[in-house]
Amino acid sequence: MSVTGIEAYLRRAPKVELHVHLEGALRPERLLRILRRHGTHREYQRPEDLAWLYQHDDLAAFLDHFRFAVTQLQDVQDVHDVAHDLFESLASQNVVYAEVLFSAAIFVRQGMAWEELLAAVEEAARAVALEIKIVVDLVRNFGPEFAEQQVETLARLGRESVVGIHLGGDEPGFPASLFTRAYQLAHEARLGLAAHAGEGVGADSVQQALALGVQRIGHGIRCLESESVVEQLLERGTLLEVCPTSNVQTRVVPGLRTHPLSELLRRGIRVALGSDDPSFFGTDITREMQIAHDVLDLHLATLDRMIDDAMQAAFLPEAVRRERLEAMRRERAGLRGELGL
Ligand code: ADE
Ligand code: ZN
Repeated sequence: MSVTGIEAYLRRAPKVELHVHLEGALRPERLLRILRRHGTHREYQRPEDLAWLYQHDDLAAFLDHFRFAVTQLQDVQDVHDVAHDLFESLASQNVVYAEVLFSAAIFVRQGMAWEELLAAVEEAARAVALEIKIVVDLVRNFGPEFAEQQVETLARLGRESVVGIHLGGDEPGFPASLFTRAYQLAHEARLGLAAHAGEGVGADSVQQALALGVQRIGHGIRCLESESVVEQLLERGTLLEVCPTSNVQTRVVPGLRTHPLSELLRRGIRVALGSDDPSFFGTDITREMQIAHDVLDLHLATLDRMIDDAMQAAFLPEAVRRERLEAMRRERAGLRGELGL
């Protein structure tokens, strides 16, 4: 099958990925190797035996699958190996910069050490030719006190690789307003602030995330339920990290054709595409761009703008962002010339 110019462009263009969970890159084959390595769950022998983990009736079911799969990782070598798989995939798609969401709390609670976990991810990142930073997902389900402890630890460790915090997990059960102090501490520690909101709960949840002072919101698509929340997003220039396939797979939206991405853009809200949990949703950032083009009818110029907006919203110093942005624009212009686009 011949590859069209647009497919080739989307595959080869420089990209930025701001919303991808490291653990969400856990593929069935890798999980089987991990189970074999530790001699656990011997009932799972073939990737097909794990098919149930990769199909979700709703967001809560997905989060259960995520929790089951991720808690099979027993040591930092496992974490390293999953990170390695993700980073290779990102590099093969010409992702030039990624901020990877890392739910380190899950592993810390299983007895692994923060320093070793971060070192394992950093080592996996060194093996590929792209720049990777870590955004720590505090995981709402563990509650506000543990979130505060996590931020204190991150502030104490002062790792250059860690550039921000996020807030994933059970949005209905653990509203953002519980985490005010954790976000205040993170702000004082000069970490970038982001949170999942408006995915499993409506605009009120987005409002609560805004009250935490976030610069970016994971998903955020249900902001459209409130004019006042949309206005605040516009005023502040908050970027939404939108993950269409994830939203369909977790049944947050009924289908790709009705996904609100185009409406968010039409309203002037800043958006970047994300793959969220690529293995659990059978996608990657290139595929999200292809879907936005093919199914949601977005022009290449809009896709380029979303990549630029992602870079502009990266948790990096302004001068570095500007430099990267210019390099991406040059690369993109060369590629368009080569492909006649
Ligand atoms: N953790 C991993 N993926 C997530 C999602 N889509 N929503 C909330 N928490 C998550
Ligand atoms: Zn997410």
